Amino acid sequence: MQTACTKEELRALLAPVRGKRIVLVPTMGALHEGHATLMRQARILAGDEGRVVASVFLNPVQFDNAGDLAAYPQTPEEDLATCRSCGVDVVFMPTPDVMYCADRSITLEETHLSTVLCGACRPGHFAGVCLVVNKLFNLVQPTDAIFGKKDYQQLAILRRMVRDLDIPITLHGAEIVRGEDGLALSSRNVRLTPAHRAAAPTIYRALKAAAEAYAAGASADAVCRNVRSELEAIDGVRPDYVELVDAENLHAVTDEKRMALLAVAAFFGEVRLIDNIELTRNV
Ligand code: PAF
Repeated sequence: MQTACTKEELRALLAPVRGKRIVLVPTMGALHEGHATLMRQARILAGDEGRVVASVFLNPVQFDNAGDLAAYPQTPEEDLATCRSCGVDVVFMPTPDVMYCADRSITLEETHLSTVLCGACRPGHFAGVCLVVNKLFNLVQPTDAIFGKKDYQQLAILRRMVRDLDIPITLHGAEIVRGEDGLALSSRNVRLTPAHRAAAPTIYRALKAAAEAYAAGASADAVCRNVRSELEAIDGVRPDYVELVDAENLHAVTDEKRMALLAVAAFFGEVRLIDNIELTRNV
């Protein structure tokens, strides 16, 4: 496995493999089994001939809250070991001043899917994600890139970016990886208090119950209300949103839908967790 810290080093490492399949896994580090799953999937996609590139970059531009950025865990040594064990060929680990010019003045804003769910509560977040992912796409020039479906809205926005800007890269969405108790794996989980860590699997239990209720004909309102009240019953937990949205355009479901997405964000103390589930029913 090779590592690059500058754009020049990255270009030099990738020059000999241009023309082969290159699969990119963008991350912000603090890697866990969810990331490892993406990397192993990337390895399979790339095959023996292709290359897997992982980026480890805590992107300051996508944080709307300085405290959240400062508290984000950083574990570079462990991250390198994870990348190596998952068959990654090249790890790109730039610092913010390598990644961004001090006087950068171009922004990249998606204006429809970003206005709801996390976009409504985190101003500038998705513009920061689009900017950094676009830069990574330009630097790595992958044929494919893999993103987890836990960040469902992020994946939908990046698919829109690729479509609207004619970026010649195939995006793959990977299923959410959960702990044995159902909690979606996230780099933020390590920041939960023991009590909140013990309570956090309630999110997925409530989502699964909602999926069953929806399949049996429950209304969007009832489904969201039940999830919200399960979360509000936990000491120190404040739901940010609980919304049933169209699985494609992410806007509120207004009519009977066969496929919908139930998306949740909730503060467990200071730690904001997100999760979602795809719901289906016969209409
Ligand atoms: O999902 C993440 O970890 C980040 O938003 C991403 C895609 C690596 C961009 O910084």
